[in-house]
Amino acid sequence: PRVAVLAGGISHERDVSRRSGRRVADALREAGCEVVVLDVDAGLIPSLRAEAPDVVWPVLHGAVGEDGSIRDVLELLGLPYVGTRPTACRRAWDKPVAAATVEQAGLAVPPGIALPHALFRDLGAPVVLEAALERFGLPLVVKPSRGGSALGMSIVREAGDLARAVVECFAYGETAVLQHFVAGTEVAVSVLDLDGSPRALPAVEIVADGGSYDYTARYTAGAVEFFSPARLDEATADRLARAAERAHEALGLRHLSRIDFIVGEDGTPWFLEANVAPGMTETSLLPQGAVAAGLDLEDLYRRVVDAALS
Ligand code: DAL
Ligand code: MG
Repeated sequence: PRVAVLAGGISHERDVSRRSGRRVADALREAGCEVVVLDVDAGLIPSLRAEAPDVVWPVLHGAVGEDGSIRDVLELLGLPYVGTRPTACRRAWDKPVAAATVEQAGLAVPPGIALPHALFRDLGAPVVLEAALERFGLPLVVKPSRGGSALGMSIVREAGDLARAVVECFAYGETAVLQHFVAGTEVAVSVLDLDGSPRALPAVEIVADGGSYDYTARYTAGAVEFFSPARLDEATADRLARAAERAHEALGLRHLSRIDFIVGEDGTPWFLEANVAPGMTETSLLPQGAVAAGLDLEDLYRRVVDAALS
């Protein structure tokens, strides 16, 4: 089949997307597909018309790629595509909405609150921050309600650092999520959903050098140690896999996703977020999970394309 891989775009994660897209395109070519890589700019619709692909794979992270908009365009053009449909993208992209959805489905979600910028303006930052500290305690995770690759995210361990973390967060969006920091093991579970029943790949455990899996740690080779599969006992690994599959289903995701968790010291999988366009670079988690499952990436990506075509 002729596949158009969409990569780049205008989000903060443009560079990551280009790297992910290149990887996917190379693997698909190896797997015998005809591949064209398109950036997302004003020329996209004419290019898609001219290229007339059989299927489109949007390897676009961040806004536009993950918030459903690019898939709205593909729906309008009537082109089959890899991944989640627009409405479910919007659900997963908004972290508080995603958290509420999976909580309804029985998953554990760290206690937290979404604070719109207007609230700080109306009540004054000291009042809002005091109230949040009193309610959730420290450490606190501060992150934009929408976003990826940990941009705008900080872990606040001292009250005096909270204001700056919130200001940095507002650089990425108008709502900040403040969430109780759960101590435990950070893991990412990719889910494949190619034949109607979602199946979790082995969890990948993330141990960041500086203690924080931030943007630099994510995309610098060697800055993070990965354990793939994660160092969990069988019962915990199983519970985690089921939680990831349930989150994928509850959010209405399609074909492939990656669900991020902290596994607490008692083995509880705490949901952090879902990704509809997970990273596919050489240091990314979905490819690592697939390799841990003994899957061949070329073959896997070809199966993803076939699922989107069927
Ligand atoms: N947002 C990045 C690409 C990830 O989830 O891997
Ligand atoms: Mg993400």
